[in-house]
Amino acid sequence: MNIIYKIISNFINNKSLYIGEKITMSEHMIQSAMIAEKAKSPNSLVCACLLHDYGHFILEDPDKLVKNKLNGKHEDIGYEYLKKFFKEDVVIPIKYHVLAKRYLARNKKYYNLLTNASKISLKLQGGILNKKQSKDFEKQNFFKNVIKLRKFDEAAKKTNIKIKSITGYKKLLISQLL
Ligand SMILES: [Fe+2]
Repeated sequence: MNIIYKIISNFINNKSLYIGEKITMSEHMIQSAMIAEKAKSPNSLVCACLLHDYGHFILEDPDKLVKNKLNGKHEDIGYEYLKKFFKEDVVIPIKYHVLAKRYLARNKKYYNLLTNASKISLKLQGGILNKKQSKDFEKQNFFKNVIKLRKFDEAAKKTNIKIKSITGYKKLLISQLL
């Protein structure tokens, strides 16, 4: 149960901006969960959205990482930590949400819609996947939810919407614990 309090307090206390955007990391993650709910997603996917960038809370200074052109691998850091507490269908999409961007960026239309910050981080993350890498990725467990999470993630950068409170997700978080 401690982990739930820890997550809630991280969301409340972390005021860092989402890299290259005008909203905070917490607002961005909550917004992605709200979009997942609107799309009538299962609780596991809503929870995955809510925690998808949690690795950034663990990393010290994500802004600095991009400026220094280093890849903090926030998806792995988040995954390694959260898998001790949450179900597989929550943490696997978190682990692969960056790979999903590299997969989806094969589509020109998707690539063009990425923000500048997202295009820069795509390069740092290894660039667009090739055919073989894409085929392998499609065999991944929870592949469909990984892609959905990525799409909700991209859409969750709006500055003019009312963001729910993290405390409203307490029950949902508890329901997804191991
Ligand atoms: Fe994100």
